[in-house]
Amino acid sequence: MNPPPEPVTPDEEKTPAPAAAPAPPPGAGAGTGTSTGTPSTPPRVTLRSDLRASWLDGTVALVVTAAVFVILYVRIKAETSSTLTVMPFMADTGEFWMYYLSQAFGWSALLWAWGTVILGLLLSGPRPARLPLSGPRLERLHRTTSLNTIALIVAHALFFAAELIYQDTDPWPSRLGGAVLETFIPGGYNSGTGVWAMPIGQAALYLAIPLGLLFYVRHRIGPKTWRILHRFVLVVYVLSVWHTLLYGTNVWYDGAFRNTVWLLQLPIAALFLLRLLRPARRSERLASPSAHRGSKAGWGLRLTGRVAAVAIIGVLVAVIASGRDGGRTVPPEDTSSTHVHDE
Ligand code: HEM
Repeated sequence: MNPPPEPVTPDEEKTPAPAAAPAPPPGAGAGTGTSTGTPSTPPRVTLRSDLRASWLDGTVALVVTAAVFVILYVRIKAETSSTLTVMPFMADTGEFWMYYLSQAFGWSALLWAWGTVILGLLLSGPRPARLPLSGPRLERLHRTTSLNTIALIVAHALFFAAELIYQDTDPWPSRLGGAVLETFIPGGYNSGTGVWAMPIGQAALYLAIPLGLLFYVRHRIGPKTWRILHRFVLVVYVLSVWHTLLYGTNVWYDGAFRNTVWLLQLPIAALFLLRLLRPARRSERLASPSAHRGSKAGWGLRLTGRVAAVAIIGVLVAVIASGRDGGRTVPPEDTSSTHVHDE
């Protein structure tokens, strides 16, 4: 999911752009053309230049995906995977390896989404004084991890579609049509539990693409419009986590995996609160109502955001402490009457 570049602007306010990892000069648009520059004008950041720079964390993402795949595969073989408790027929590793690969890409996508949201919040909020990365490098990493998040989500969906195609015995046109319908069209996958989970995942993907890529045309739509739209990437992140908790068969039941997913949301919520309390952009700070230069409604909105962030942390802590996190109770060993997928 997800979320690219909070940008350049707060960063530019704080950090001069070094030649090695240049950020565009204030007000510069992300060009669509070449990345040429002179010593005084650093090259423009373009989609092409960022795609080129994405190979390193993209490779790391593939290694992580491979590692997760091995873990999932070994757990299936050892019959300790909860995917089997939900869907016992998945035990046939020769038949369903693409499904496990889709799951593995889902996990790396979620991890990259998590990381890029953290980076975005560090760019737009307060940043620890001692960070191993300079501002522009942090910014570039935020953009490349965002591009890779989108690629990982697409791979997650494509391997799911590939598995459907593989399992289907219809003629090719209907196989392909069916897989596209079930994977990419909301409401097209009729699996009971997927009624909401699938459209939520699809919404995350469909929002992530424009909200992520708009950065590269921000000179056309205007930096302010881009900045406002880009904030909605947080919605993409929330949808991704929601989709996972609703649908992931490895986090289907109460237990360590599901708890970890919930726990990982705490740093995001804390950074979100900090970002609202101490935004990098001076104009976003919450002055006293009398000193506030904008409308009263704008001031109220900012205050509401801060209160909501505190409430989110409270809810997360309550869910984690109480263990009431929407997980199902693990069924008894003899699952012959309990492993109902479409409950
Ligand atoms: C077109 C969009 C999407 C489709 C068709 C899709 C499909 C699926 C399906 C069928 C599952 C169930 C797999 C299982 O049995 O465990 C699943 C789980 C999952 N999805 Fe998605 N998804 C989509 C979007 C996303 C997004 C945007 C993310 C996160 C960035 C994501 C991350 C995950 C994760 C982490 C799981 C859990 C896998 C597991 O339990 O091993 N998905 N998805």
